Amino acid sequence: MSGAPSPRHDAFWMPFTANRQFKSEPRMLVSAKDMHYTREDGQRVLDGTSGLWCVNAGHGREAITKAVQQQLAQLDYGPAFQMGHPGPFELAERLVKHAPDGLNKVFFTNSGSESVDTALKIALAYHRCRGQGERTRLIGREKGYHGVGFGGISVGGLVNNRRMFGPLLNGVDHLRHTQLRGNAFSRGIPNQGAELADDLERMIALHGADTIAAVIVEPVAGSVGVIPPPAGYLQRLRDITRQHGILLIFDEVITGSGRVGEAFAARRFGVVPDLITSAKGLTNGAVPMGAVFAADFIHDAFMQGPESAIELFHGYTYSGHPVAAAAGLATLDLYEREGLFQRSLELEERWAEALHSLSDLPHVQDIRNIGLMGAVEFDPRDTVGERGYDVFHHCFWKGNTLTRCTADTIALSPPLIISESQIDELISALASAIKAVD
Ligand SMILES: Cc1ncc(COP(=O)(O)O)c(C=O)c1O
Repeated sequence: MSGAPSPRHDAFWMPFTANRQFKSEPRMLVSAKDMHYTREDGQRVLDGTSGLWCVNAGHGREAITKAVQQQLAQLDYGPAFQMGHPGPFELAERLVKHAPDGLNKVFFTNSGSESVDTALKIALAYHRCRGQGERTRLIGREKGYHGVGFGGISVGGLVNNRRMFGPLLNGVDHLRHTQLRGNAFSRGIPNQGAELADDLERMIALHGADTIAAVIVEPVAGSVGVIPPPAGYLQRLRDITRQHGILLIFDEVITGSGRVGEAFAARRFGVVPDLITSAKGLTNGAVPMGAVFAADFIHDAFMQGPESAIELFHGYTYSGHPVAAAAGLATLDLYEREGLFQRSLELEERWAEALHSLSDLPHVQDIRNIGLMGAVEFDPRDTVGERGYDVFHHCFWKGNTLTRCTADTIALSPPLIISESQIDELISALASAIKAVD
């Protein structure tokens, strides 16, 4: 069965896509169910990436569809400013039960990028509320991806996402990234590199702690190609930030929603930040939604002055949109009922075994894994990214599997409902592609 007739492809300027290359040979998906997409030619494609790290409960979940339909019929939209409707209140109450201790407040957004910019703004404003308005410096990390808002690209550490867009935010520094050669082929958390967190001490020595508002990192760097944190690294960042009154933000847009074996990576690694950003898996990708989880002490610092005063001059027309909230509630029901937050921990060994079986294949330079995330990195050809793209392309057209390439790294993050035999299928398609592509 093939889907709807193909539309023309000229007008849609595609995001993060080689538009001309894509349009010369479009990879069109027309439907999806559980672990599979269906291509325009009717071929089923195994989803090795949860779409774009978001469809954690698998595709076409009926409970989410029904909740969205019902919500649209009952209340399609309600203003988000100075008005309320039940969905986001209920969703926030339920979500904080899964958040690390003390992060009991939720600010809704519509995407990961908005969550990041919201968290950075909350961090800056928090210090101001406490009379420390000189704390304006923000610290990110090389190779970090924090979406595409101006805040996010400023603290982000990917050169292609930054260099076209001018000087960006002032007063931003970057910690060194944690991808060390000596950690290649580590299974799970690598051993070397905790001391890289001490870069923060150097920045404190250089600028003064009283000028630094916040540090933002992905607990596991995702988009750049799955870089798990060195053992002890996140705790060290936590210790230093706490000692100096600097807020710690974990960007969990990818690592939230069960990707690493708990609702949040913060819980998996036992390190509690002050703010967490999330999106993607929050609604299983069905309706755009993001959220910032804030520690009580941050929220409470804003709750001063007359009760009639708006405490935070920030928000979006669609913050806590009723349809997104309904999708979020139905998604959370699924995660809880099916034990999906824990499932990647249950499969972690099996997943690692399968991935690392690729280590002797040609051009494989590194393999990394944690939870149900993994990456295979290749030696680049003369043109960086070409080999990675060819492997991705082969997987899609010949192996009928969806993978994701970022430069010469193939990243995998299948839905958490994947079976063990589907793990084998995915890895075997990748193995064939690696062997076929020189
Ligand atoms: C860690 C992280 N932060 C932020 C974002 C941006 O999310 P969005 O594309 O929903 O704006 C992403 C997206 O991949 C991400 O991985």
